[in-house]
Amino acid sequence: MVKKILNLLALSIFVTGIFMACGSATAPVKINQAPIVKSVADDELSYRNIPLGEEDAAPAKQYSDKDPGESIKIQRAFENAPPMIPHNIDDLLPIKRDDNQCLDCHHPNEAADAEAPATPASHFYNLRTNTKLDDLAGANFNCTQCHVPQSDAPQIIRNEFQPDYRNPESKTSSNLLDILNEGIDD
Ligand code: HEC
Ligand code: HEC
Repeated sequence: MVKKILNLLALSIFVTGIFMACGSATAPVKINQAPIVKSVADDELSYRNIPLGEEDAAPAKQYSDKDPGESIKIQRAFENAPPMIPHNIDDLLPIKRDDNQCLDCHHPNEAADAEAPATPASHFYNLRTNTKLDDLAGANFNCTQCHVPQSDAPQIIRNEFQPDYRNPESKTSSNLLDILNEGIDD
């Protein structure tokens, strides 16, 4: 048995030796070749086939001119996607620490009177500490970071995405906090 192991050891040293010898014989050869430079003109990069810097050529676009209360909710891009803002927000910005007009209508305490959809439970929750908050989570204060108006600009590239809503209500309402842990074992 010991002899067999010794034989195997000798064989492996021999084989390694051959490999090392071959390795040094076929050292990589340096090729003096100029790098291939392929350039792309900036009007080839643009979807509209115009130079990228030319902002003036952007197609005319119009945001909603409907005031809050007059607009119609826009279907969510997918289940629990942040809804787009269907109404005009021209006079409501900028959002400042002491002046967040969105909350004047969307805060749950105001929503019923304003007949506006209330800011959902997920915005009053700290997901890091898993605790319900008495007031809006700081991370949700800057509404237009996630909610944006929709313009009527034409689609240059057609979006083929088809959302798959599990129930018809989720096209125009959210329930993220209720279903967040779906499929996760405790
Ligand atoms: C004067 C009250 C009012 C103010 C101020 C207001 N909203 Fe609204 N908002 C509404 C109403 C009412 C609706 C429902 C659509 C409608 O009737 O026009 C709505 C709809 C929305 C929706 C769509 C909700 C959904 O479920 O699809 C979002 C998002 C939204 N608003 C965000 C904002 C943001 C962000 C601001 C601040 C920049 C703001 N709103 C300011 C009243 C208001
Ligand atoms: C960090 C991103 C983010 C910010 C900031 C944010 N939201 Fe949302 N919002 C969402 C998402 C995602 C949803 C849909 C899923 C959910 O949370 O239930 C939502 C849903 C909503 C809805 C629909 C509620 C319903 O029942 O269908 C309203 C109204 C809303 N937000 C208002 C606001 C307002 C007002 C602010 C600012 C005070 C704000 N949001 C800030 C991400 C955000």
